[in-house]
Amino acid sequence: MMNVLGFESSCDETGVALVALEAGHPPRLLGDALHSQVDMHQAYGGVVPELASRDHIRRVLPLARQVLAQAGSTLADVDVVAYTRGPGLAGALLVGAGVAVALGAALGKPTLGVHHLEGHLLSPFLAEDAPEFPFVALLVSGGHTQLMQVEGVGRYALLGETIDDAAGEAFDKSAKLMGLGYPGGPALARLAQQGNPAAFALPRPLLHSGDLDFSFAGLKTAVLTAHRKLGPAPGPAVLADLAASTQAAIVDVLVAKTLRALKQSGLRRLVVAGGVGANLRLREALTAGAARLGARVHYPPLHLCTDNGAMIALAAALRLQAGLADLRRDGAFDVRPRWPLAEAQGADA
Ligand code: KG4
Ligand code: ZN
Repeated sequence: MMNVLGFESSCDETGVALVALEAGHPPRLLGDALHSQVDMHQAYGGVVPELASRDHIRRVLPLARQVLAQAGSTLADVDVVAYTRGPGLAGALLVGAGVAVALGAALGKPTLGVHHLEGHLLSPFLAEDAPEFPFVALLVSGGHTQLMQVEGVGRYALLGETIDDAAGEAFDKSAKLMGLGYPGGPALARLAQQGNPAAFALPRPLLHSGDLDFSFAGLKTAVLTAHRKLGPAPGPAVLADLAASTQAAIVDVLVAKTLRALKQSGLRRLVVAGGVGANLRLREALTAGAARLGARVHYPPLHLCTDNGAMIALAAALRLQAGLADLRRDGAFDVRPRWPLAEAQGADA
């Protein structure tokens, strides 16, 4: 039995969680607390890195206390302290890493730096209906859009990725130019519910490219052009149509490439992770498309799609279980704002 306390602070969410791992049992989430900075950044239309770092500092210890109270545990019950080592905003990462390593030193417990995307990738293991290896993973967040073949913990092969904007960025940038604020994904998805997805003929970039790569920059430009043509004060109905059409274009490409990845790999299990994985239209379309191929789709619990501490504690626990964790006890640490997942495989890179 081992308890891992995990800290996430790579961007605009402070997350802390305690995960218990017991041989022969699925991991258990004992406590989980989150503070989103969305309200704070909203006034600026995007994440302001310096404000993000300062807010992580304010939130991280109260959240840790909350998690331990929720779990009915104390710091003495913590065996390993994990934190997001990258990728992300350098200053924001340093807060979680600094706190985690200081805590480890104070408790005399080892620490482990985790790759943020590995956290997203393994988050479905906290669901009731956890996947089995191997599977295809569609990782769709604000910064990443990747298809991977996952053979096991620490064994990830990249099948395809975006050559420019990420899917989350396409949602966010389109929403911003439509005046929907930040973060745009959920707002655009909400507005799209009232719109007609066929109202605007928007491009599906790289849909027929034959490979598994994505491109969303051209779509954003097309949305911009369409929006300008609506004049200075478009009505709510036509705006909803544009939102629905934008969402449909993004979802169409994500679904087509993901199904292609399933076909090419011959695998019949799909995991969807990352913030855009919370999009209900995407979930419906993927579930239906996968069913036609006889494949099953696994999602993390909805609240664990976007950034959180649970996925970081979990990824650390699963790496420990797999014998892949390079635990540190020397009180030293670094963060890796740019860190390809390929470099975080197997034993620590
Ligand atoms: O994984 P995440 O929380 O943070 C990163 O690691 O980037 O993903 C955030 C992204 C943002 O682009 C946000 O707009 C998008 O996920 N997102 C959504 C939805 N919920 C979050 N996009 C579309 N529909 C949603 N329901
Ligand atoms: Zn993320």
